[in-house]
Amino acid sequence: MKTWEEATGHTVTLVPMPAPTSDQFGLWLAAGTTDIYLYQADVIRAPQLADHFVDLTEAAKDLIPQHFPSIIESQTVNGKLVALPIFTDAPALYYRKDLLEKYGKQPPKTWAELTETAQMIQDAERAEGKKDLWGFVWQGNAYEGLTCDALEWVKSHGGGQIVEPDGTISINNPNAVAALEQAKSWVGTISPAGVLAYQEEEARGVWQTGNAVFMRNWPYAYTLGNGDDSAVKGLFGVTTLPVGKEGDPSAATLGGWNVAVSKYSTKQEAAISLAMYLAGPEAQKQRAIAESNLPTIIALYDDPDIAAAQPIIPQWKDVFLNAVPRPSAPTLGKYNEVSAKFWSAVHNTLSGKGSAAENLELLEIELNDIKGSGW
Ligand code: GLC
Repeated sequence: MKTWEEATGHTVTLVPMPAPTSDQFGLWLAAGTTDIYLYQADVIRAPQLADHFVDLTEAAKDLIPQHFPSIIESQTVNGKLVALPIFTDAPALYYRKDLLEKYGKQPPKTWAELTETAQMIQDAERAEGKKDLWGFVWQGNAYEGLTCDALEWVKSHGGGQIVEPDGTISINNPNAVAALEQAKSWVGTISPAGVLAYQEEEARGVWQTGNAVFMRNWPYAYTLGNGDDSAVKGLFGVTTLPVGKEGDPSAATLGGWNVAVSKYSTKQEAAISLAMYLAGPEAQKQRAIAESNLPTIIALYDDPDIAAAQPIIPQWKDVFLNAVPRPSAPTLGKYNEVSAKFWSAVHNTLSGKGSAAENLELLEIELNDIKGSGW
């Protein structure tokens, strides 16, 4: 922000948001709050919040062609560009190179392989006295992050993407059931029972103190894991998430963050200028190097400074370009509700409240109700 403040003479005040992405700022916008000028919005929010933000098409007309068209598309609602991308996100499977080497294992290709390797290493390491070691940590709390993890399990088992791009509700199918039953089998075996309350940061906490063989997380954890205070500095690698069985599609949920200018703001011009700066090449490069955030500007994937500082970034270009979107486009203003129903069905299954088959059957009925009332 400093560079922009110095160049323009404006001062930025940051207002922290509650961490879970689903709780964010709906209320402020609904109330027409005038003293928040610029919002940082999750990639899935554009359709739902479009009415509260100004159209950035004209202001950003020179910047837009520098970005991946698919990301600009995700922030465009009925021809209105409601937010500018500041970074994109696609998760990785983090693995401990030292432990895999010690036991002669390769990074897993299928979830079954991951389960087996995690259990084997966990058992062997615990027998050597590493009592706190777990096989696999991920995001199991009942929140938007679980929608991301569970979409990956389902999609990579050939079970579709909850609601398909044409609006078909596809989640109640045997592949999705198998995916969720497998995830349930991890809870209390290769994953701590407490994983049911984990978000990204709790998973990273276990991982970064050296207490996990595998972790599912976003690229931000890459820089932090290589920090001087990290017990796993230099000891880990990243690969794509496993699949159900060979031939199934690997699936990474598309994440990412954008900035949007409130239409109730009394400082629109300054807010647009800051949005342009944050979404522009200079700030994106800085964020890529300092925080391993994936740029949305195409040319930055060939930037030698970024590649040297954060090898995960050029390596991750294809992963994010093939990432699977959550169904926020087909469900429009109802995405929040759809996602909450999905993560609840998954969380119930993982907690042993009903089987995957029962919970997905119920979920299908609930989603049909939401669809019936119009999305
Ligand atoms: C990351 C992603 C975001 C997602 C969130 C879930 O921040 O970028 O899109 O909704 O994780 O916890």
